Amino acid sequence: MQNKKIIIDTDPGVDDALAISFAIKASLPIEAITTVYGNSTVSNCTTNALSILELTGSNIPVYSGVDKPLKGKSELANSHGDNGLGGFNLKTNKKISKLSALEYYQEILNNSEDKSITIIAIGPTTNIGQLIKESPKLFNKVDRIIIMGGVFCEEGNVTPYAEFNVYNDPYSLDLILKSNLPEIIIIPANICRQVTFTKDIFNKINNPKLSKGLAKISKMFIDYYSNDPQYGGFKGGVMYDLLTTVLLVNPKLFTLEKRKITVETKDKEKFGLTRIVKGVPNCKVVTEVKVEELKKLYIKIMNK
Ligand code: RIB
Ligand code: CA
Repeated sequence: MQNKKIIIDTDPGVDDALAISFAIKASLPIEAITTVYGNSTVSNCTTNALSILELTGSNIPVYSGVDKPLKGKSELANSHGDNGLGGFNLKTNKKISKLSALEYYQEILNNSEDKSITIIAIGPTTNIGQLIKESPKLFNKVDRIIIMGGVFCEEGNVTPYAEFNVYNDPYSLDLILKSNLPEIIIIPANICRQVTFTKDIFNKINNPKLSKGLAKISKMFIDYYSNDPQYGGFKGGVMYDLLTTVLLVNPKLFTLEKRKITVETKDKEKFGLTRIVKGVPNCKVVTEVKVEELKKLYIKIMNK
């Protein structure tokens, strides 16, 4: 996958932190981080983004986004700790940029060549939904969007039907699926659940500050996914978002299938349900991931 300019739209978020720090260590061309509500309030998620950049020694600009879905109210997560980052908070002099996430998207798309931007969407996709509604022509300059979201053939992780990011704002995902972007890639929760980390993996990171910081960030998340009576039972923390940035570094670890998917925005009980239906494909869905190779690549890149 040819990566030109990447924007990470995120609600950090423990697994977001792993995805972002991996992308930085892999030297991916990240233009900016735009934050959104989800794993905590957008204010906390923005503070967390600055902590993650302090931890990784990166100066990527951060733009704060929206604090609620296009319609209705947000459903904040409880599996990432009170501050959304497992209680981790690194003092930093970094400041967020003056522009809002929407203003930033409009600016960079205005000033970029057509089809030169990739968006990694690892929270509710409301910032992008807002961009499509306000500036549809600018949005159509985006080349590719890779979304951690949805779930197929398994239960959801926030209701029996829906995955968290989509449940928070299915309207925005619906707008994205109806856009005619060249490439929309969906990495669903049923695939992400195969990628679980215990604290041991962080012991394999040689940089002590990074190793300790990521272990601290992940501790309660790993406990939650291992022991929670309703959503636990895994062999560690489910590092959902990490799959998006690993896909950019080594797409060969993934199988993608062209699919037509829809998202439920009306039925109350099945709100946020993603379905694979017959028809002309509107996206590519990840159907397989090479888990052990992914873990090896993670350790290799984090020790670069
Ligand atoms: O359902 C998992 C998704 O919701 C991940 O992006 C996680 O960070 C939370 O935002
Ligand atoms: Ca996330």
